[in-house]
Amino acid sequence: MQPIRKITDDILWVGGNDRRLALFENIFPLPGGITYNAYLIADEKTALLDTVDSTVTHQLLNNLDSALGGRKLDYLVIHHMEPDHSAEIEQLCLCYPEMQIVGNPKTLQFIEQFFDIDIADRFVAVKEGDELNLGKHTLRFYFAPMVHWPEVMFSYEKKEKILFSADAFGTFGAFSGNLFDDEMDCGDEFMNEARRYYSNIVGKYGSQVGAALKKLADVDIKMICSLHGPIWREKLSLILDKYNRWSQYAPEEKGVVIAYGSMYGHTEQVANIIASKLAEKGVHNIHMYDVSKTHPSYIIADIFRFSHLVLASPTYNLDLYLPMNTLMHDMAALSIQNRKTAVVANGTWAPAAHSIMVKNLENMKNMELIGEPFLIRSAFKEAQSEQLDILIDQICTSVHETKI
Ligand code: FEO
Repeated sequence: MQPIRKITDDILWVGGNDRRLALFENIFPLPGGITYNAYLIADEKTALLDTVDSTVTHQLLNNLDSALGGRKLDYLVIHHMEPDHSAEIEQLCLCYPEMQIVGNPKTLQFIEQFFDIDIADRFVAVKEGDELNLGKHTLRFYFAPMVHWPEVMFSYEKKEKILFSADAFGTFGAFSGNLFDDEMDCGDEFMNEARRYYSNIVGKYGSQVGAALKKLADVDIKMICSLHGPIWREKLSLILDKYNRWSQYAPEEKGVVIAYGSMYGHTEQVANIIASKLAEKGVHNIHMYDVSKTHPSYIIADIFRFSHLVLASPTYNLDLYLPMNTLMHDMAALSIQNRKTAVVANGTWAPAAHSIMVKNLENMKNMELIGEPFLIRSAFKEAQSEQLDILIDQICTSVHETKI
């Protein structure tokens, strides 16, 4: 017996869960683990849709063997060549010698780059709109380049109206037997991890995500099967609405993210004053992060979520404090845009953080600077109170005037 889940009578989940991996892509913390989904369509022909990461190979191979029940595997359909979904291609070629591999020319290129196997005689190249008939089930292919790599394609199963969406609509988090969205709590804790996945993994490619959503706008979709996270069937509108917002870099809520770096507490003190006074003035959706403590992926996710941002940083080696530099580099790399931002900077003898942060923001798209950067020379002085109050009032007014 294997932990296989039925999606329909003929479509089975045969993937794996990893709760041991500390860092996804060796970068992103995984407190709740990660799911690698793979699906088997068992019709007149059998087709495996994607494989899994090498860490859970045994789960896939056991599940697949059990689900096939002695039948041969006719096709492996590859929606995405990143190794967290393609690690078992070589192994499957050995286990299932008659198996054909379905992908596009870019898929083939990447297979040849990653592996030393000759698959030319078993590769089936498809184009946008091509179909693969398996019997009662037919897969129609939609290319979705750069959601998240250039070879990515989706497929739509016409009988059951299921979209197989590669990384799109994925989340961090292993599932606990509960595979479908209606079997789990998709509240704040869940959505925070879904947002952290989107913003950090796919966030850079908002226009490509938007193009894919547009391409599928008239397709009747009853279920979305991503390569990570739950199968969406009851809360389709919830995740589609989030993707519409995220792909346009539109905030979900009015709120202020305060991300500060501080070596000896002086910059932190000003961040705390700003937070307290904003709260006093009725801005209650405030989320503070010490950039030296919190992994940037969590801060990036909240920057995607909320409308406003306060960045506070010391100068360090005549440059920006390293953890703030990392965060701002990440913001630019992930195409963060359309946020209203205030800047606080500290410097004892040659302050530079304020001008670097402002320049960084100017290099991003549509980042509105609130007021003037607030400059601390070593430590906040009471004589600066009036100037700081002006900035806090400007942030407050901007939050209140923002329409979501
Ligand atoms: Fe889940 Fe882009 O790989």
